[in-house]
Amino acid sequence: QNIVILISGAGSNMMAVVNASRCGNWERRFGARVAAVISNKADAGGLALAREHGVSTAVVSHRDFESRESFDEALAGVIDGYSPALVVLAGFMRILTPGFVSRYEGRLLNIHPSLLPAFPGLDTHRRAIEAGCRVAGATVHQVTAELDHGPILAQAVVPILPGDDAQELAARVLSQEHSLYPRAIENYLASMAR
Ligand code: GRF
Repeated sequence: QNIVILISGAGSNMMAVVNASRCGNWERRFGARVAAVISNKADAGGLALAREHGVSTAVVSHRDFESRESFDEALAGVIDGYSPALVVLAGFMRILTPGFVSRYEGRLLNIHPSLLPAFPGLDTHRRAIEAGCRVAGATVHQVTAELDHGPILAQAVVPILPGDDAQELAARVLSQEHSLYPRAIENYLASMAR
């Protein structure tokens, strides 16, 4: 049960999943391990982190391809080299084509920093503050062809405090993501094992 994690940035969610997989004995309990971390950006901070922790890494740069389709095709080729049971998007900032999504149907998860279906897309924290929301949060969901939609697996709620700016709120949400995502993946692995 190989897990492949896709990142574009700092990779703090990726690290939370890698740590949980080890501390939570996913190998023994589910026969699952994080086999690789793949980034569309060569300078993603998470790549070095993954390597430091002994996880294989690969880069497929979207800039090397002329279309979304050809990028997704190349990305899928690298992913499939690990025969993954689960593909985990963790701050992966590319919109995926319907072809890519259907290829991994039922085994493709994402975390989004809002309480979906509210605030799909970018800039979620600023938008939640400007809308006068009293709570924000994060959502783990299965990926479908429509961006930031798909069946919801888990959510965490955090308060929006008076005077919060987008950065403060983002940090509060992110710290919840780090426990939410591993938990949701663990439940998903348990349900796959049944
Ligand atoms: C997280 O807030 C995630 O929900 C969003 O991008 C951020 C990624 O952070 N899609 P990191 O790379 O996991 O640190």
